[in-house]
Amino acid sequence: MTLLAIEQMVAGYGEIDIVTGIDIAVHEKEIVTVAGTNGAGKSTLAKAIMGLVPRCRGVLRFCGEDLLAMRPEDRIKVGVAYVPQVENVFPSLTIVENLQVVVGVQNHAARIAEMLDLFPALAARRRVRAEALSGGERQQLAFARALMTQPKMMLLDEPTAALSPNLVAQVFDTIRKLPAIGVAALVIEQRARQSLEISDRGYVLDSGKAVMSGAARDLLADARMADLYLGGA
Ligand SMILES: Nc1ncnc2c1ncn2[C@@H]1O[C@H](COP(=O)(O)OP(=O)(O)OP(=O)(O)O)[C@@H](O)[C@H]1O
Ligand SMILES: [Mg+2]
Repeated sequence: MTLLAIEQMVAGYGEIDIVTGIDIAVHEKEIVTVAGTNGAGKSTLAKAIMGLVPRCRGVLRFCGEDLLAMRPEDRIKVGVAYVPQVENVFPSLTIVENLQVVVGVQNHAARIAEMLDLFPALAARRRVRAEALSGGERQQLAFARALMTQPKMMLLDEPTAALSPNLVAQVFDTIRKLPAIGVAALVIEQRARQSLEISDRGYVLDSGKAVMSGAARDLLADARMADLYLGGA
């Protein structure tokens, strides 16, 4: 089943179009990478999916429902969870408090217990303020916050940015396990090779357009892809 269906999306701020005609699909329990260089429009794409840019047009559907007609909070209710590239936790709140303040959750206590089971590193530090966590722990907390609402799809904007190599592997490992709990992922990543290795399909954005797309294994084997976006063969 198709979860996210984007056709000819154009989005931007003020007068300028940043995303200039993108088609993207994410199916149930699928992991999809969106790669691309700095400034390609990846975060703008993510914000547009969540209703957080001033201008967006085209077709944006989630489970058949028109996202463009929905406010950001309603997009979360239909099953999209968003982990922004920056400022994705409340620094002055503890781990548990960060989970308690997520809106749109039926039974906070039960869901928090499930999240602490899923992320044992967070359970051990549940009363610690987010500002005192390591980068890797903080990213796990951001994931846990997003999963609180039992989404069908996670939208992850550069979840491995600014993490050390061993933590990068941990984050990709967490993403890889999402389909097993019924969650698809649209992963925006500059670490294209590693992200494609755990993905079913991928897209490469350049200047607001998808310049390449296909099965992850085909993109990984593509010579032009390797030269331009994977840092050589
Ligand atoms: N709030 C904003 N107002 C105006 N222009 C913006 C805004 N946010 C981003 N832009 C512009 O949109 C373009 C694309 O930015 P975007 O953040 O989507 O790129 P990105 O692919 O996510 O880059 P990065 O890999 O560095 O995160 C850039 O030229 C940027 O300056
Ligand atoms: Mg970005």
